[in-house]
Amino acid sequence: MKFGHFDDSAREYVIDTPRTPYPWINYLGNTQFFSLISNTAGGYAFYTDARLRRLTRYRYNDVPLDNNGRYFFIKDGDTVWNPGWKPMRVELDSYECRHGFGYTKFSSSKNGLKADTLYMVPNGENAEIQRITLTNTSGSKKSVSLVSYVEWCLYNALDDTTNFQRNFSTGEVEIEGGAIYHKTEYRERRNHFAFYSVNAKPDGFDTDRETFLGLNNNYDSPDTVMAGKSGNSVADGWSPVASHRLNVELEAGASKTFIFILGYVEMDENKKWAGENGCAPASKELLQTNPAMRVINKEKAIALQKRFETPAQVEAAFDELKKFWDELLSNYTLKTGDEKLDRMAVWNQYQCIVTYNFARSASYFESGIGRGIGFRDTSQDMLGVVHQIPTRARERLFDVASTQFEDGSAYHQFQPLTKRGNADVGSHFNDDPLWLVLGVGGYIRETGDVDFLKVDVPFDNSATNKATMFEHLKRSFHYTVKHIGPHGLPLIGRADWNDCLNLNCFSKDPNDSFQTSTNKDGKNAESVMIAQMFVYVAPEYAAMCRLLGKEGEAKWAEKQAAKMAAQICDTGWDGEWYIRAYDDFGNKIGSKECVDGKIFIESQGFGSMAQVGADKGLPIKALDSVKKYLDTKYGIVILDPPYKDYHIELGEVSSYPPGYKENAGIFCHNNPWVIIGEVKSGRPANAWEYYKKIAPAFLEDISEIHRLEPYVYAQMVAGKAARRHGEAKNSWLTGTAAWNFVALSQWIAGIRAEYDGLRVEPRLPAHVKNATITRVYRGCKYVITVENKDPAGKIALTVTAGGVKADGTLVAAGAKGSTVEIKAIVG
Ligand code: BGC
Ligand code: NOJ
Repeated sequence: MKFGHFDDSAREYVIDTPRTPYPWINYLGNTQFFSLISNTAGGYAFYTDARLRRLTRYRYNDVPLDNNGRYFFIKDGDTVWNPGWKPMRVELDSYECRHGFGYTKFSSSKNGLKADTLYMVPNGENAEIQRITLTNTSGSKKSVSLVSYVEWCLYNALDDTTNFQRNFSTGEVEIEGGAIYHKTEYRERRNHFAFYSVNAKPDGFDTDRETFLGLNNNYDSPDTVMAGKSGNSVADGWSPVASHRLNVELEAGASKTFIFILGYVEMDENKKWAGENGCAPASKELLQTNPAMRVINKEKAIALQKRFETPAQVEAAFDELKKFWDELLSNYTLKTGDEKLDRMAVWNQYQCIVTYNFARSASYFESGIGRGIGFRDTSQDMLGVVHQIPTRARERLFDVASTQFEDGSAYHQFQPLTKRGNADVGSHFNDDPLWLVLGVGGYIRETGDVDFLKVDVPFDNSATNKATMFEHLKRSFHYTVKHIGPHGLPLIGRADWNDCLNLNCFSKDPNDSFQTSTNKDGKNAESVMIAQMFVYVAPEYAAMCRLLGKEGEAKWAEKQAAKMAAQICDTGWDGEWYIRAYDDFGNKIGSKECVDGKIFIESQGFGSMAQVGADKGLPIKALDSVKKYLDTKYGIVILDPPYKDYHIELGEVSSYPPGYKENAGIFCHNNPWVIIGEVKSGRPANAWEYYKKIAPAFLEDISEIHRLEPYVYAQMVAGKAARRHGEAKNSWLTGTAAWNFVALSQWIAGIRAEYDGLRVEPRLPAHVKNATITRVYRGCKYVITVENKDPAGKIALTVTAGGVKADGTLVAAGAKGSTVEIKAIVG
């Protein structure tokens, strides 16, 4: 069952009912000011850090779901309705929500009144712009009122939901003309404030929540809205809000447009106050919580309000936003004639950028207060965005590497505002260092920017203790070699990619965190997956050594990788598949000897991607076992059989009910490893079967089962052992985005940036007979036409224009600004 459709030419997902199985959301903002917005206009805004600079309040896990957002109430006679349906939930005559790239639009109508709303964050602005046009289609004159509403969060989102003894007394506001200012804590240590303005003179306002709603009401019956009269309240502690009332007269056929701005402003310390240090004096019409207090200097805020005063200004910013996305998406395009596949190539890139922007901070599953930016997560995320935003990828990789320690280990997470490692979580996730090599490798392959390897990067954010980026990678690589356990495999530490394989935790206390408590010395438990990653990463590392002329180190790395591969064949192979790990007692995890957890996806994925033991046919055997034991109709489960009991020696993995999360859920993050492994093992048809099962555009028709947005991946889908098999959770911010884009663009479509050219090896599905791929690589545009006769067959390339040579399937980098045309015949 569908709840909308893709509008491919507009690049929008069109939702045609507010009653989606779960809020289907979108993200606004590209650099500093960000908003989440659902298909009922729920969500919130923040500046840079979703925890420390939360601007509007949202209530997670509330009833009804998705409570609080930016709401417009329209009172037309006795009917009060919202263009986004919520919170009034009055049946609309028509409703449509369009999520586009960086903007969301609603178009809805009731009783002959139409409301068209656009929400966006213009590039480079610290503001969410809301443009609403009301049109009278009724045939006779209408007098309606439009009431806006947002609720302020008192900036620190965690404190805001916990520290009521303080927070119920601190709220302060100012009101001046069409603008309502959130002044809370501005007087003391904050040099920032937020505001909500409208480009018209309001006929009323409210800034005190209780006055706006009434003490016992919910949002579906606000006193002031129902009565048709604002309270003109000035907040004094409690919960400050911002609401404008506009009385709108509309002749038949007439329409009126209003522009609302939810803005954020930072001030210089000596320019904070009106009338001081040369700042303009306070307006006489101003109202504020306490008239005895100094008044905010509004020069910057007013300048921002002036930039979006007219519909033409908003339209221009909207055009610019669209152009920005056109450009980002033009670096990689795929046209196969399979509309679902082509759509994935577009939406998957959008998700990758959103994931870059938000890391794992704020979604409808991540509260924005819980986690910093992950070392491992970010390094992987870079693989999905580097072809679009190489400069920003470089900056982020620099930040990530700056949280590494001298011995090559790293903080597992860091805070976006301070960029410092998160001491509460600490270090010792022993896979972390290797991801950095992969991330930086991806960047260098894309850009050829060898100088990045020579840049000095701090250890643990130190101002003085630094080494080159290459040296950081070297420490990463050597870290694995120096931390080997009894079976000759890398020690796992607190966990590897699977955060829940906590083999040194041994916790009996429900108050312990599985991931940060350690009760063993860490000298026994080993990870086969880290060993495979090491083999996978070694060619990247060796190539980067060679770029710097370090032949000796490159050779050494290759020798270590060969040794590790041999070790995996010896102690990491179970007969039909790769073992997953060894626990602290030296027992196998992910082996036929186990009762539960006999086979895991990670080691089959990384083993086959790294082609460990290919001469003995191990990758194919492992992949056949994936098919036999882990495949389901909704994707590949992470392990099987699920753990039914808590295993103290395994940790969090055995804490989840069977079929969920790391205990036999379908992790959409590592399905692509198997997809890549299948392509690498010469079986693209299998790769395609797996690809389709989890790609959201292919699941649109079963949205009632899948439940989450059909335009982005979710981290997890319930596995076969769960009652709710097929149901997704945790959409948007997940490494799934980057890895599926890597699988699609680099392995299925087969275009890979390598250190010395672009690899062109399309392995598209058999039903795609002809395809066109464009790819901008190092400033040169490649236009690749594919004739797909037999997806697994031989590939013949001809460069038909552009003056570069192909060496087998590797095409040299063309001149910047030039176009290279390639014809690829497959089979
Ligand atoms: C989840 C993981 C997640 C980790 C860190 C665990 O509870 O199952 O998927 O990566 O927490 O937040
Ligand atoms: C989510 C985390 O963000 C990621 O780092 C981890 O690898 C997966 N969960 C699997 O546990």
